[in-house]
Amino acid sequence: MDVKSLLSLGIDRLDIPEARFESELILMSVLKKDRTFLFSNYNKTLQSKVVDSFKKHIEERKNGKPLYYILKEKPFFNVSIFVDENVLIPRYESEILVEKVIEFSKGFKKTSILDMCTGSGVIAVSICVNTVNTEIHAVDISASAIRIAMKNVKKYSLEDRVSCYQSDLFGNVQRKFDVIVANPPYIPSDYLKECSSDVLKEPMIALDGGYDGLVFIRKLIEQSLNHLNKNGLLLFEISGDGQNRPVMDLLLKKGFSEIFTLKDLAGLSRVCGGLL
Ligand SMILES: C[S@@+](CC[C@H](N)C(=O)[O-])C[C@H]1O[C@@H](n2cnc3c(N)ncnc32)[C@H](O)[C@@H]1O
Repeated sequence: MDVKSLLSLGIDRLDIPEARFESELILMSVLKKDRTFLFSNYNKTLQSKVVDSFKKHIEERKNGKPLYYILKEKPFFNVSIFVDENVLIPRYESEILVEKVIEFSKGFKKTSILDMCTGSGVIAVSICVNTVNTEIHAVDISASAIRIAMKNVKKYSLEDRVSCYQSDLFGNVQRKFDVIVANPPYIPSDYLKECSSDVLKEPMIALDGGYDGLVFIRKLIEQSLNHLNKNGLLLFEISGDGQNRPVMDLLLKKGFSEIFTLKDLAGLSRVCGGLL
């Protein structure tokens, strides 16, 4: 079977608006080649093991497996992060956190950072790859997530600058930092039912923010007080549908100053933070 016929087969079988895009990505991943290769070899006959592997992945996708769990890689910022079912698939909105931390760390000779809720390690890795003066602790409650974070740290040879370890919130965190950054679970429990079936294939512990979505964030703000240096920055992602108001009030009440929100490309408040 050639490239062209195999892609057509994938597109017919998936039968969704993104079928062409997804079939191309799946074939590129199976072949370990880029799009240019695909189109300059449109009539090339493929080995049967390539055909079988492509068909297997198309069936997995048809049965609801999220695309990036099939591809095992998610592009983010200027890195490519290994992912599997143990971690959240990184979202583009979280790049706002990374940009802000990079900008903040420019003011320091050395910046110590805690990436709370690291999951795949995506935030820690992106910050580290794009700075020279940062050292990061990356923590998560999930042991499997920590294994994946370590894999991504190793992929970019950052073992000297990023320490990954398991911790329930600050339970195993022994020190203070210049920055605490987090993409915490923030979806209200009742809303989870309304999430797409793709999203519900991701770990529930990465999504469920409790009855109002703010259960984890309240603890994060409260406990950050003991783990931030003077003038340290706390910033974290929120849901984009009105969580910014209560969260800003809370930051103010707990003594943070220069409180801010940052918007995503859709104009929704996505990140909140302040200085201690
Ligand atoms: C929304 S995901 C974020 C993952 C990653 N930072 C990202 O941006 O793609 C939230 C993460 O918080 C972790 N988590 C949930 N409860 C936690 C807790 N009590 N302490 C530490 N991490 C927790 C989950 O395991 C999950 O990896």
